[in-house]
Amino acid sequence: MSTFSTFSQATDLPSWAKLQAVFDASGKHLSVKELFAADPDRFTKYSRTFTNYDGSEILFDFSKNIIDDKIFELLIDLAKDADLETLRAAFFAGEKINFTEERAVYHMALRNQSNKVMKVDGIDVAPEVNSVLAHMKEFSEEVRSGAWKGYTGKKIQHIVNIGIGGSDLGPVMVTEALKHYADRSLSVYFVSNIDGTHIAEVLRSIDPETTLFLVASKTFTTAETCTNANTAKAWFLETAKDSAHIAKHFVALSTNAVEVEKFGIDPKNMFGFENWVGGRYSVWSAIGLSVILYIGYDNFEKFLKGAEAMDKHFTEQSLEMNIPVIGGLLSVWYNNFFGAQTHLVAPFDQYLHRFPAYLQQLSMESNGKSVTRGNETVKYSTGAILFGEPATNSQHSFFQLVHQGTKLIPADFILAAQSHNPIEGNLHQRMLASNFFAQAEALMVGKTEAEVRAEGNPENIVPHKVFSGNRPTTSILVQKMTPATLGALIVYYEHFTFTEGAVWNINSYDQFGVELGKVLAKSIGKQLDDAAPVSNHDGSTNALINQFKMWSA
Ligand code: F6P
Repeated sequence: MSTFSTFSQATDLPSWAKLQAVFDASGKHLSVKELFAADPDRFTKYSRTFTNYDGSEILFDFSKNIIDDKIFELLIDLAKDADLETLRAAFFAGEKINFTEERAVYHMALRNQSNKVMKVDGIDVAPEVNSVLAHMKEFSEEVRSGAWKGYTGKKIQHIVNIGIGGSDLGPVMVTEALKHYADRSLSVYFVSNIDGTHIAEVLRSIDPETTLFLVASKTFTTAETCTNANTAKAWFLETAKDSAHIAKHFVALSTNAVEVEKFGIDPKNMFGFENWVGGRYSVWSAIGLSVILYIGYDNFEKFLKGAEAMDKHFTEQSLEMNIPVIGGLLSVWYNNFFGAQTHLVAPFDQYLHRFPAYLQQLSMESNGKSVTRGNETVKYSTGAILFGEPATNSQHSFFQLVHQGTKLIPADFILAAQSHNPIEGNLHQRMLASNFFAQAEALMVGKTEAEVRAEGNPENIVPHKVFSGNRPTTSILVQKMTPATLGALIVYYEHFTFTEGAVWNINSYDQFGVELGKVLAKSIGKQLDDAAPVSNHDGSTNALINQFKMWSA
C-alpha cells in the first residue's frame, strides 16, 4: 500500500456499507420534493455560503440533491473513514501524494498570496513563485504599454498561445471567462490541435511584426506543441528572416530550460515552474501568462487571491461546512450508489463557455483511474463523464435527456447575479436567470400524470408529457463573475475532484492513460511517410492505414 493509503477498497469502509444499506432501504426512493414539503429549513440546512477575500460571496445550494440528514451524516463519515483529512494535510504539506510519479502536488503554492512558507523537499518554494510572478508582471506591463516592441518597432497586438491540454484549456477558459476585464486592443489566439487547420487559420489573422508567441508546455516535448511552435517559427522567419528577431516574438512557459533553449528561445524569455505543478493545475503558474497579458497583472492577482481563499476554506472548514468536500461526496453518492455515469456542468454564463471543457480535463484526467493507491484494481466505479455547455443553449439541445431520459444526470448550474452586459434594461439577464431557476425547479419537481391529464392532453399523449422529477442539481449563484470569483470557483472543482479521489482511494494526479496512444501514434507516424502498405497491425488498423495512404496520395 502507498504511504498515502490507509485502506484498500472504498467499499470496505464502514460508512460505505451503511450508505449502501440506507440507499437500498430508503435512499433510492427519497423524493426531494417531499423532503422540502416536510422540512421548511431544508434550504438553510443544505446550502453554504463562501466568502471570498474581497467580501464577495458565492452561494452553493445543495438542497435539491437526493439526500436527507442520515445520508449527509454518512457521507461525512465516508470522508472521515477514507482519511480525507490526513491526505489533505499531506497535500498541503507538499508531500509526494502523486506517488506514482514521485511528485508533490503543490499548485496551491502558486496562489500563496499571503506568502506563507510552503515547502517541497524541505525548501520553501514561495520565493521562486514570487520571482516568476514578478517577471510576468514586468513583462506583461511592457507588452501592454507598448514598451516591448516587435522587431520592426511596432507594439504587440496579437498574442498566440501554443500549447495543449493543461497548457491550453486553462488559459483559453480564463481569458474567455474574464474577457470583460481585457485590454481589447490585444487579441489572443490559442493553437492546440496538431491538425494544421488550427495554426493555419490563426496565422491568417495575424501579422509577424505585431505577434507574440507563447510556447506553453510543461515538458516542452509534447508533439503537438513542438510541431505547432516550429511551424510558427518558420512562418515568422519567412518574413523576419533573421533568427535574432525570435527574441522579441517568442517566449516559453515551461519547466524544461534545456529544450526551450534548443528551440531557440532565449532563457531570459522563459517563465518557469516546477514539476510539482500538474498540467491540468497549471493555469496559476507561468502557463497563465496569456491571461496576464490579456486582463492585466492586477486582475490576475485577484484571480490568485480568490483561489487562495477557496484553499483556505477547504483546509480550515469542518467537513460538514466544507463546500468542495460536500460537492465531491455528493458526486460519489450518485456515482456509486445511484449508478450515475455522468456529471453535467451548465454555466448560465456565456463567458464561461469553455468552463466545461476545462473541467473535463480537471476531472477526467484526474479521476479516470481504475487502480487504488494500494495498487489493486478498484471494485467500484470512479471518475464521472463530465460534460456541459452554457445554458440556455444546452436547454435547446441535450436537456431533453436530462429531464426525461432514462439516466440520472447530476447537474451543476452556475449563474452570476450581476451581468457584465446588462443590456436592454437587463432584460437578457432576467431571462437568463429565470431559466437558471426554472431548470433546477423543473428537474426536481417534474410533472405528474395527473397534472398532465388536467391540462387536457389526450390519454395516449399523457405518458410522453410526464416528467419524473427528482433529478438532482446543485445551484451555484455568484454575485458577479470577477477574477476573484472565478479563481474560487475553479478551486471548488479542484478540491471537489480531490475529495472524490480521496474516497475512491486513487491517485488523482498522474495521467499514464494518455501515453499508449501517443506511443502508437509515433510509430504509425513513421509508417505514413511512404506509400508502402502496412501489415503489422490488426486487420482493421491495417486496412484503415492503407486506405488512407491511397486516398491521401
Ligand atoms: O497528454 C496529457 C498531458 O500530459 C496533460 O496532462 C498536459 O496538460 C498536456 O499533456 C500538455 O503537456 P505539456 O504542458 O507538457 O505540453
